[in-house]
Amino acid sequence: MRIESLLLKLLSATILLLSSQYATGQNQSVDVPLSEKIPLVIAHRGASGYLPEHTLAAYSTAVLQGADYIELDLVSTRDGQLIARHDNELNLTTNIADHVDFADRRTEKIVDGRTVKGWFSEDFSLEEIRRLRAIERIPGIRPANTRFNGQFTVPTLEEAISLIKKLQKSLNREIGLYIELKHSTYFDQLGLTMEEVLVQSLRDNGYNEFQHKVFLQSFEISSLRSLNAITNLKLIQLLGNSGQPYDERISGSILTYADMATAQGLREIAVYADGVGPEKYHYLIPQNERGELKLENTSDFVTLAHAAGLLVHPYTFRAENEFLPNSFQTSADPAALGSAAKELDLFLQLGIDGFFTDHTDIGVAVRDRYVRNR
Ligand code: G3P
Ligand code: CA
Repeated sequence: MRIESLLLKLLSATILLLSSQYATGQNQSVDVPLSEKIPLVIAHRGASGYLPEHTLAAYSTAVLQGADYIELDLVSTRDGQLIARHDNELNLTTNIADHVDFADRRTEKIVDGRTVKGWFSEDFSLEEIRRLRAIERIPGIRPANTRFNGQFTVPTLEEAISLIKKLQKSLNREIGLYIELKHSTYFDQLGLTMEEVLVQSLRDNGYNEFQHKVFLQSFEISSLRSLNAITNLKLIQLLGNSGQPYDERISGSILTYADMATAQGLREIAVYADGVGPEKYHYLIPQNERGELKLENTSDFVTLAHAAGLLVHPYTFRAENEFLPNSFQTSADPAALGSAAKELDLFLQLGIDGFFTDHTDIGVAVRDRYVRNR
């Protein structure tokens, strides 16, 4: 039996035992006033601190750790199927380089203006993708995760939804989907438009209303506007820490992410979206010259976004020293866990409505303590 299959069986058996343990604040109505809402824990690519990202095992683990939402990044295959990968280049997170019969498909492309070498999802059918197995993206920082290399398949959107539905039933609690379409304009130009495929798939699975526990997110404005025209699901505009959305750049617009983060820019986002996903340091608390985070350096971003009626879900909270400011690092070892809880505590004090994290367990523990004490 493959480890993936064994792990999923073990997880299923454990679910009922754990189901009462993670019951805090998971079923909030959208009618709850913003100030009383419990910040959402969004499992970034699953429990990606502990398992290779975007695998059913990583999603299951995140659910068992208490995530409110599971984050999926989606790209398209050659035959228009949506699969869960952060990048359309597959060598970063799969064992595609080991498949000798795919060797001649290694190539160089320009993706969203960047030159990328490797194997690309749009050059493979779903049947071929099914032969791949996931590997750890950052083995130097997460060496323990490499023990799972080669064990887990690349999930389709449908498989991820099916898993979530099974877990919902077993746990008797709602689990949200937080879905990002990657490289939307790029795929559109290849004739592989993803928005309608995604919305149809969600609709087929009963997700199409505002109150459903689904967020759709994108860095690209045109993708969100397209989605806004065809679904009532909640939409989140992601904000990169520099430059422009790719779709704006190629249309000749000079609109930058910085422009979008102003009071006026946020009001314009509110026309088509329900929230924003800002990079946490750049928009919320910039690190000072000593690499420290200080509450007194907090920007007015959360206030402005809330004034525009937008939810604020910053990204991405990661627990290893590598990803933490100097003042929250615990040693010189970049792979060792730092004081992630202290960092998250600081951001929760800003009144954020949720956050993306690679370490769901830490996120849930800190969030629950924050809610109990506020
Ligand atoms: O989607 C929120 C966050 O995930 C954006 O960054 O690059 O991890 O998709 P990325
Ligand atoms: Ca994402």
